[in-house]
Amino acid sequence: MKYNKKDLLKRKVEHIDIKKFNAVPLIDSYEDMAFQSRNLARACDLYERMLKDKDCSIILCLAGSLVSAGLKKVIIDLIDHNMVDAIVSTGAIVVDQDFFEGLGFNHYRGFIDADDNQLRDLMIDRIYDTFIDEEELRICDNTTKIIADSMKPGAYSSREYIYEMGKYLDENKNNAESFVLEAYKKEVPIFCPAFSDSSAGFGLVHHQTEKKEHISIDSVKDFKELTQIKVKSKETGVVMIGGGVPKNFVQDTVVAADILGKEAPMHKYAIQLTVADERDGALSGSTFKEASSWGKVDQSFEQMVYSEATLTFPLLASYVYHKGSWKNRKPKKFNQIF
Ligand SMILES: NC(=O)c1ccc[n+]([C@@H]2O[C@H](COP(=O)([O-])OP(=O)(O)OC[C@H]3O[C@@H](n4cnc5c(N)ncnc54)[C@H](O)[C@@H]3O)[C@@H](O)[C@H]2O)c1
Repeated sequence: MKYNKKDLLKRKVEHIDIKKFNAVPLIDSYEDMAFQSRNLARACDLYERMLKDKDCSIILCLAGSLVSAGLKKVIIDLIDHNMVDAIVSTGAIVVDQDFFEGLGFNHYRGFIDADDNQLRDLMIDRIYDTFIDEEELRICDNTTKIIADSMKPGAYSSREYIYEMGKYLDENKNNAESFVLEAYKKEVPIFCPAFSDSSAGFGLVHHQTEKKEHISIDSVKDFKELTQIKVKSKETGVVMIGGGVPKNFVQDTVVAADILGKEAPMHKYAIQLTVADERDGALSGSTFKEASSWGKVDQSFEQMVYSEATLTFPLLASYVYHKGSWKNRKPKKFNQIF
């Protein structure tokens, strides 16, 4: 059956609001059960401990396609309620999905048995059961070029560039619902170690090809800045949603600090919500127990939860939001240290 583009891009993906439901009683019940319910309850308890620990800086790692799936507001609420001090993510989440929506575009409810050839003809991209208007994505690509064009030529960390993206939204789309904008307002740094592997990559290639004097993204500077945050923090806790590049980048700051001759303990707390397991020896499913052999994560307060994040992340965030320990935390405003 043939559809037209308007028919296919009709129903928006809506973002779940963790303030509207209280996951505490459910998670409390999970604690006395088994398997992943008990693991999730322990992860919730560890996040709560991080929030109560006055010495702990909390780093949120985001991989996969979380914003297109309806989890954007969860991230905004964590930033807004001072439950995150730094974010490490992918260009896909930060640019293609969050910044894209910040510009006023949406993700749409699609279906997995769609005719992908027809989608291609209509310039509709598919992420599993979600549709995106490729023409709107091109506007997003071009906006990243416009931002790059406006910057003084030179090498920037992705954090510095993403700060400019936040500023762009603040100046041009002030009412936008975007975690890039929220983090900009709250001075929470966002790092993307593989930044060009995203919509921004297209914009930056265009920018560099057109301009003799241009900007570039310096991923070593990212690593240096994130390591500075690690060194400045007495203790750290990592909250990982999915695995991928953000997971290792954060873990490696402990080793980087050591190589630079700085005092920095292993990450004291670590939780990960993931579908990957350890059998393939790959990073995404590697356990924190394994990471401790590399001197990266302490084994006392760690928990892996094996489940898909659209199910578990809202529960984790709703739990800590309703427990309310965030009310007693001071914002770290790490963007100010650079
Ligand atoms: N995700 C996209 O749609 C997309 C689109 C364009 C570019 N990219 C680029 O691809 C590169 C790799 O991205 P990545 O690191 O996110 O890789 P990825 O999407 O493969 O995710 C890494 C791992 O995280 C776990 N994971 C992902 N989603 C999950 C979920 N919903 N629940 C539980 N676990 C989950 C899985 O174990 C997965 O193997 C990045 O540079 C990114 O910018 C991604």
